[in-house]
Order: sequence, then C-alpha cells, then structure tokens
Amino acid sequence: MEGGQTVRHSMRLINARFAIESKFFWNERATSLEQQTTMPIQDHLEMGFSGVNGRGNMASLLAKLSKINYYNELFKFVYGDTVVTEARMQESLAQFVRSIQSFDSKYDAGRVQVRNDNDPFPNFTATENTGKNLYMTPPIFNNNGIRIAGGLGCNSCHNAPEFDIDPNSRNNGIIGVIGSNDIELNDTRAPSLRDLTKTDGTINSRMMHNGVFNNLAAVLAHYNNIPANQRNNNLDGKLRPNNNTQQLNLTTDERDAVIAFMKTLSGTLVYTDKKWSTPFINQ
Ligand code: HEC
Repeated sequence: MEGGQTVRHSMRLINARFAIESKFFWNERATSLEQQTTMPIQDHLEMGFSGVNGRGNMASLLAKLSKINYYNELFKFVYGDTVVTEARMQESLAQFVRSIQSFDSKYDAGRVQVRNDNDPFPNFTATENTGKNLYMTPPIFNNNGIRIAGGLGCNSCHNAPEFDIDPNSRNNGIIGVIGSNDIELNDTRAPSLRDLTKTDGTINSRMMHNGVFNNLAAVLAHYNNIPANQRNNNLDGKLRPNNNTQQLNLTTDERDAVIAFMKTLSGTLVYTDKKWSTPFINQ
C-alpha cells in the first residue's frame, strides 16, 4: 500500500518523559524515545521516507532539511553548526516530546494533600473517592474467576502517579487488528491513562492499539468480562484468575465511580499552553 491507513492507532504522548516503561509503541518495538521518533518518518504508510517504490529515504530527508533556512538557524543555535543528522533529529524530537507534560489535574491537587493514594482526597467528590479505591485496590476472585470482593486492580498495571503501564504487563485481551481478522498478541504497552479525556470530560481520541473503544464505559465493559480466546497465549496473568478470564461483576455505580475517577486525571495546561502549539502559524 502507498500511504494511507496505519495498522495501529497513534499513541497519546502525554508524560512520555515519566513513563516507567522505557520502550515505545504499543508493541514496544522502539527501545528508546529517540529511536521511536524517526520510525514514523521512515514508515512507508506514515510519513513515507522509506526509500521504497521510488520514495525518498533518510538521506534525502536530511538533504532536504539542510536546505531550509529556519532549520539551519535552529540547528546552529542548538548544535553550533547547521549539519542535520538523524541523531540530532532524534534528540531534538525526543526532547520536544519529553516537554509535553501534564501534572495540573484534580488528582494532582488532591494527591499533594494526603500521605498516599489510599487516603480519601479532600478535593474529591464521594463518587471520585470511591472510584479511586476501586481503581487502586486489587480484586478478590472466586474459583471461577468472578470478582466477589475488593476493587478492580487497574493500578496493578497502570501505576499511579504516572498511570503508565507496568513494564512487565502482557496483553489485556485487546488483540484485534485494524481492517483484518488477524490477531496481535504483543501489544503490551499502553500510554499513561492521564488526559484520556479533555477538560469537558469528553474523550480525546479512540482507545486501545486498534482504536476499538470511543468511550470509557466500553473500556470498563471490556475489563468487566475479558473475552476468552484460545489463541491468546499472552493474556496477562492478572486478568486470568484461577485460569479463567476475569469477570469483575461490576455494578453500574462502580463503573460510573471509576469513570469519574479517571476523569480527574486530566489537566488543563497541556490543551492551552501556546508552547505546544504549531510554530508555523502567525509568522
Ligand atoms: C494486566 C494489566 C492491565 C490491567 C489490570 C488493566 N489494564 Fe488497561 N491496559 C493494559 C494494556 C496492556 C493496554 C494496551 C492495550 C492495547 O491496546 O494493546 C491497556 C489499555 C488501557 C486503556 C487504553 C489507553 C489508550 O490510550 O488507548 C485504558 C483506558 C485502560 N487500559 C484502562 C484500564 C482500567 C480502567 C483498568 C481497570 C479496570 C485497567 N485498564 C486494567 C493493561 C492492563
């Protein structure tokens, strides 16, 4: 295919700098943020500097960039000369991505007022505090993998306060591939769960590597009843209690409380601060 639909949905990049998992992409194929940055540029389907079917490659991109005046100026400012290299591009792009930070959420305002995540947050509603408990506390299952007590165990994979993925996580049962009946078992990295929603509470983008969900209720419905699939031999053990796929037996109130808590993880500045807007407007 010559450009067009990618095989996975783009990952959100919020707080990549503070990720506990140092590898990038859903399937962790980049070993560092630096390495990640130039892979989409060279992907034939994405930015297309692949060197395939007559397309330009990294060398032609570097030649092109070194002829653009404002890059000459910027490279000289940072590196002392105008030479554009892949390593310099990677360093600069990775540093930009690391600048995208969000720590002005309602969760952060509450967290500084207490000793740990298990204390009730004074700035939270009762529902948000209930949701936080459910998120933080591991579930207790019966022999059939049905939850009979405890919370939902989200924090055992999406660890507070980064809400980044545990580096040892295996897959969460989302194994579909966009536009195909194939399955993918190695998508074991999620971005931080911070800023899933905008300040008005609506969702920022579709979720999961294949963009299968567009609302938080659908995400909870998935964890409530993890689909059993014989071919999924990489489902995380935490979602497979006593060798059954987990059933959380969620009540509507519990579901709504966790969703209310997840909405407290969104900040404001990351949507409004001009330093993250395009530099090419109003020049
Ligand atoms: C066993 C580890 C594990 C547990 C427990 C877990 N998750 Fe996940 N979660 C993942 C993985 C892995 C992904 C990435 C899935 C993919 O798309 O391939 C993910 C993805 C997500 C996403 C999508 C993020 C995005 O930007 O697209 C949301 C939302 C989410 N999880 C919420 C939750 C909630 C809420 C709970 C608790 C009910 C939970 N998770 C429990 C491992 C886990």
